[in-house]
Amino acid sequence: MPSNLSSEFPRNTPLAVDYQTSTPCLGRVLQAMEPYWEKNWNNPSNRNTHSGLKAAAAISLARDQLALLLKVKSERIIFTSGATESNNLALLGHARAKAKDNQSPGHLITVSTEHSAVLNPLMQLQREGFRVTQLQPDKDGLIDKEAVARAIKKDTFMISIMMANNEIGVLQPISEIAGLCKDKNIAFHSDAAQAFGYIPFKPDSLGIDFVSLSGHKIYGPKGIGVLVISPTFPIQPLQWGGNQEMGLRPGSLAVPLIIGMAKAAEIMTQELIERNKRLLILRNKLLEQLQMNIPNLIINGSLKKRLVHNLNITIPDVNGIRLHRALKSLISCSSGSACSNGKPSHVLKALGRSKQEAEASIRLSLGRKTSENDIDQISLGIIKTVKNLKN
Ligand SMILES: Cc1ncc(COP(=O)(O)O)c(C=O)c1O
Repeated sequence: MPSNLSSEFPRNTPLAVDYQTSTPCLGRVLQAMEPYWEKNWNNPSNRNTHSGLKAAAAISLARDQLALLLKVKSERIIFTSGATESNNLALLGHARAKAKDNQSPGHLITVSTEHSAVLNPLMQLQREGFRVTQLQPDKDGLIDKEAVARAIKKDTFMISIMMANNEIGVLQPISEIAGLCKDKNIAFHSDAAQAFGYIPFKPDSLGIDFVSLSGHKIYGPKGIGVLVISPTFPIQPLQWGGNQEMGLRPGSLAVPLIIGMAKAAEIMTQELIERNKRLLILRNKLLEQLQMNIPNLIINGSLKKRLVHNLNITIPDVNGIRLHRALKSLISCSSGSACSNGKPSHVLKALGRSKQEAEASIRLSLGRKTSENDIDQISLGIIKTVKNLKN
């Protein structure tokens, strides 16, 4: 057991260790957004008013800030409602544009452990006549370049592979796969909702054509995201209306949310190196304490190629439903993706876990303020719960 703790779990409210589901909005983000709710309230499309002009200037600055962080041209930044919409726009938007050019639907490749916000748009494309190959990752959750190369067909026009997994935190070999795409003139999309702000990356240096980002995973507001579009591959809109976002995403822009996302991205990037150093130590300490006290604990996903704030473990020989019910009052964590609707995780199943093992799994994701004392409390809570369930 962690040494310096009383045997009683001291908290009244569950301790959050679920920061991959979402994150709280930072005070500095709220401050940056504040003038755009009431004072500068007008529509940025209305340049005839002072407040509309102010809003337009702020949007332009936010776009430039995000573009600078990603080292892409500002016109490649398209604001959406979140990573779900960005994924839909990239996948459906490019596939439909390509099919129109080629006069026939073609073939796409993805991985079975993607988020449902990628898998479900691809299912829609299958209903529209496109063919989709879902590759299986290895036992560590990783996909290798050779497997991707083998799956490429004559008419493969797009590959979508996430940068960091939302459940097991593993980091895919993005630049290797992007290189493969470049050689064959295939568009490469990556859902980077869990990576942006957590690992430094530049889409162009990695060779990614389309990138999806989300505001609420980086201590920004919910309801805002970005799709970085390609300067070369075509894309068509999913809806029609005004000419906002070059007609790719019509509708009045969500001014405060856009300002908030840019601010959050700036803060997360500024503090990234220091935060990652600290969180790696804490995550490893948490794992060590759990491994010392829970026999045969399984780590899901590669520990080496992984986000530093993620841990996903399976606890053998306990009932998952009872485990999560018992943990509920102590820690707020997750058995899988927040969007899994209580079903055993498709990610853990792809790694070879049985239904029972997948249910007895816990995703722990640390936040930027998670402390050493929190780590002790979290491990103590889990260890005591598992011991009780086993007795
Ligand atoms: C990898 C990944 N993609 C997409 C999404 C959906 O993001 P949003 O809530 O911004 O639509 C999430 C959020 O759970 C995610 O983790």
